[in-house]
Amino acid sequence: MAARHKKALHLRLLVFGFSIALFSLALNIFASLALAEAENWLPPGSSTEMLDSPPPELIKPGTEKDREWLYGRLLFRSPSLLGEKAVRIGLSCNSCHTNGHVNTSFYINGLSDRPGRIDVTNRFWQAGFEDGIANPLDIPSLRGSADNKFFGTVNVFPDLHAFTSHVIMIEFAGPEPNEEAIKALISYMNSLDINELEESEPVVETSSDMSYISLLHRPLENRDMPELDRLIDLIRSDYGRRAKLPAAQTDALHLTVSSLRELQDKAAKDDFEAAFVIYRKLSSDQ
Ligand code: HEC
Repeated sequence: MAARHKKALHLRLLVFGFSIALFSLALNIFASLALAEAENWLPPGSSTEMLDSPPPELIKPGTEKDREWLYGRLLFRSPSLLGEKAVRIGLSCNSCHTNGHVNTSFYINGLSDRPGRIDVTNRFWQAGFEDGIANPLDIPSLRGSADNKFFGTVNVFPDLHAFTSHVIMIEFAGPEPNEEAIKALISYMNSLDINELEESEPVVETSSDMSYISLLHRPLENRDMPELDRLIDLIRSDYGRRAKLPAAQTDALHLTVSSLRELQDKAAKDDFEAAFVIYRKLSSDQ
């Protein structure tokens, strides 16, 4: 009897010990995961989006808002262009160069010495590319910058094409952009006007409600599923960002997003006719 009790007690102690070991293992794993996560997050006190009173987007009069321009504008606002880290913290060209101008409140604790300035050559952006100096720079406006003779101050480039590839791949460790993406970005940057609007001119409110739906026409026509999926992803994440803006019409945004999902489903099932019907409905609603 007593022996059996002892055995049971031993077993219980063993189980208890084991649970403690498991528990501390779980705690350890949790702590190291949290640490890994924390390294990917922005330091507290940082501010990367200019939600209140962003500068107006000045587009040169007569700019043709064609496919290339629209795509460039969309990419300019898409974190996926700048690689994994940017996606995690939601950072795009537009975070710093808001509406082609300057986000004067942009601040990352440790990389900025004051708002509107940032060190872009720090290993925070990418392991291995660190110039070893804390050198925050003013975020420049891109208005009219297409006419510059050279680009950048730390690394100087003779043209916008070379500078744009450098920004994406070297500064932010993004994936190599294809030629179409770079050309589109340049087309958008070329359209940024340095001239302030005349008082009589109306401000073109393009910033928050631009429709990118027409970009889907080409992949639908070509029945190009990977391209369709990629563009829908970009457009959907743009709607996600818009939903955070003050006075966002979230119901309308949700409706569009679910129509996009439906369109994607139809196309995936090879029913391009139905997909086109949804496309036309979406285009006419915009
Ligand atoms: C974290 C903030 C940040 C992000 C994100 C960012 N930039 Fe910049 N950008 C800067 C800073 C700071 C400079 C000044 C760097 C220098 O002078 O070398 C700059 C310079 C530039 C210039 C040169 C302007 C000139 O007159 O010389 C261009 C063009 C430019 N950025 C385009 C882009 C594009 C396109 C993207 C997205 C692919 C982008 N930037 C993303 C901060 C940023």
